[in-house]
Amino acid sequence: MSDDSDRDELIVAARRAAENSWSPYSNFAVGAALRFADGTIVTGTNIENASYGLSLCAETVAVAKAMDQGHRGGLEAVAVIGSRPDPVMPCGRCRQVLLELAELGRTDPVIWCASETDAASLRLSELLPHAFGPDSLK
Ligand code: THU
Repeated sequence: MSDDSDRDELIVAARRAAENSWSPYSNFAVGAALRFADGTIVTGTNIENASYGLSLCAETVAVAKAMDQGHRGGLEAVAVIGSRPDPVMPCGRCRQVLLELAELGRTDPVIWCASETDAASLRLSELLPHAFGPDSLK
């Protein structure tokens, strides 16, 4: 599979995940998709709560699902897409949550921050430089 079709497949998976968003408070549906070295794709969507501060971001849900399925590293790529025209940049907390899984497998995943028409490509290390991760506790 070419890099472009890998990227497009991941963005489509993220967009599909956003269809299950529970976001009646922000009306901002977000979908995230994680690709692992074995080709597995794990998705997540944002889940809001009437107690707003308890809301979960799409990327965090995807990481929790992946770790529940046994993934401990091998994270190669992430796509994030939202229901507004601009690309979605992962929030600070999600960057840190993604780092935990990435560092377990010593990868620096590419993050596709997508909109309907475009996708910016950034490495996790660019989004979260000088990070505190599992290795910092060794
Ligand atoms: N949101 C995400 O799902 N991921 C992010 O990286 C940024 C924000 C969600 C949380 C909330 O449900 C909505 O977007 C508005 O902040």
